[in-house]
Amino acid sequence: MPLKLLTAEPGDIPRIVQLEDEAFADSPLTPILFPGGKSQDSQDTYVENLLQQWQDNSASRTIKVIDTDLDGEIIAFARWYIFIGDDVRFIKTDPNERHNMPGSNEAACNEFFGGLLKIRARILGRNPHCFLSTLCTDPQHQRRGAGTMLIQWGCDIAQKHGVPSFLEASPAGLPVYQKSGFEEVDRFVFNLEKYGGEGSRVNVQMIKYPETASKIVQNDEKLQA
Ligand SMILES: CC(C)(COP(=O)(O)OP(=O)(O)OC[C@H]1O[C@@H](n2cnc3c(N)ncnc32)[C@H](O)[C@@H]1OP(=O)(O)O)[C@@H](O)C(=O)NCCC(=O)NCCS
Repeated sequence: MPLKLLTAEPGDIPRIVQLEDEAFADSPLTPILFPGGKSQDSQDTYVENLLQQWQDNSASRTIKVIDTDLDGEIIAFARWYIFIGDDVRFIKTDPNERHNMPGSNEAACNEFFGGLLKIRARILGRNPHCFLSTLCTDPQHQRRGAGTMLIQWGCDIAQKHGVPSFLEASPAGLPVYQKSGFEEVDRFVFNLEKYGGEGSRVNVQMIKYPETASKIVQNDEKLQA
């Protein structure tokens, strides 16, 4: 069952939204952030928001992995932000931005997403970087390498431009990111009990710096010339 990485298209958005729901169905965060469940209304709003972003935000890239033996079914996707050149203007730095989706707990979303953004802004500021904001693999197709392919895609761009790659790892993503060469730089602890859940949820801020090997080779070549 061969996997193939492609750029996603606007027509893929409904499947991508469905896939995100499936991938996060077991997360203890889901009932806290979206206690109203994933109603048709919230799905439609999310699809609209993503379509809008597709048009307005040139830093945003959505890529997908399909299984060519399953009639091209999308089995995984990632959303990367390539904050390079003029597109650094799309870097968000305001942790007080409001998050209000149908079915969501606005206070919990503001605290969770605002808390992540506060740390992100402190670490990266407005410096060029590539940011992996979402990564999901259909639970039926996990552990086949799709996630790693999607991580590598953005890291290759970062490497080419000599900028770091950044992400905020869920517990499920942590080992995959470590294997891909990311290192922990901070942690955000979100208290689930405050919103009626159990325990806390830890998201780990991770960075992968571009390798300098190519520069060293270039310098060696200069020395030898
Ligand atoms: C995190 C997530 C995206 C990983 O996706 P994935 O497609 O399963 O990732 P990979 O297949 O590349 O790697 C997963 C594991 O499978 C292993 N693997 C990769 N290819 C494999 C293969 N052909 N055979 C067996 N195992 C394989 C990897 O080594 C990795 O092992 P590890 O978990 O012990 O580190 C997926 O678990 C997911 O969607 N989780 C829920 C949503 C989520 O938390 N997303 C991350 C947000 S930060």
